[in-house]
Amino acid sequence: MSEALLSVENVGRSFGGFKALEGVTARFEPNKVTAVIGPNGAGKSTFFNVLSGVLPPSTGRIAFKGMDLTGTPQHRFAHLGIARSYQITNIFPLLSVHENVRVAAQARRSRYNIWTHRDRLQDLHHKADAALEAVGLQGQRDITAKFLAHGQQRALEIAVALVADPELLLLDEPTAGMGPEETKDMVALIERLAAQRTILLVEHKMKMILGLSDRILVLHHGRLIADGSPQHIQADPEVRRVYLGQSHGYA
Ligand SMILES: Nc1ncnc2c1ncn2[C@@H]1O[C@H](COP(=O)(O)OP(=O)(O)OP(=O)(O)O)[C@@H](O)[C@H]1O
Ligand SMILES: [Mg+2]
Repeated sequence: MSEALLSVENVGRSFGGFKALEGVTARFEPNKVTAVIGPNGAGKSTFFNVLSGVLPPSTGRIAFKGMDLTGTPQHRFAHLGIARSYQITNIFPLLSVHENVRVAAQARRSRYNIWTHRDRLQDLHHKADAALEAVGLQGQRDITAKFLAHGQQRALEIAVALVADPELLLLDEPTAGMGPEETKDMVALIERLAAQRTILLVEHKMKMILGLSDRILVLHHGRLIADGSPQHIQADPEVRRVYLGQSHGYA
């Protein structure tokens, strides 16, 4: 078995007395796409919040490249190579596409060098352009972000996450609110990004997940109830039972 990029052991997160996530143990190998699925409220976003340092876990340990990240502040996660996008679109609507990405690149640097001279500024511009290129938004670089189509706004969020050049990219429902065409574009983008990094994504669109993922984790009531290949998950009776009657279905 190859070495894990990320491993979680007995990870849990409570809110008051409520256990949103409980006893999750898993390891993630590099350069794979893993989907995290489960009904609404299953704990998927909470899992991502814990994996990206947004929330400290209440129990358990997280290790990234063998380093224990338990108790590490959020900005360190990004610095170490873990980046994420959010379930709800999270961009600066009044800034241009390019400015959105440049601000992210700058925020990442400012702790080391606040007063950027010309070279630094050029470097930020190049980094922002490279991230936009990676998500196919070069042609929209000067448009005010709020005027982008929904799918393009989601791609912009991914560009913002990419300026940190992360080894691990966490995408929380990247196709939320998208129709079939935009979803197709996002799948193609994720496939391109997956060639160079490890991706974890939360998704409800089952067909898409089955085509895209090397592996699927299923959460239910905060617990990991299944973990395996798409074929394995499709055949799992408990997974089928959990999804029965879900509005987003299992088709
Ligand atoms: N900050 C919080 N404070 C209190 N409860 C929370 C908090 N965050 C999440 N929860 C609760 O934890 C449970 C899991 O929420 P989470 O957002 O992780 O679910 P999810 O699987 O992402 O659901 P969805 O598919 O609807 O996005 C829910 O019952 C939710 O109400
Ligand atoms: Mg969620």
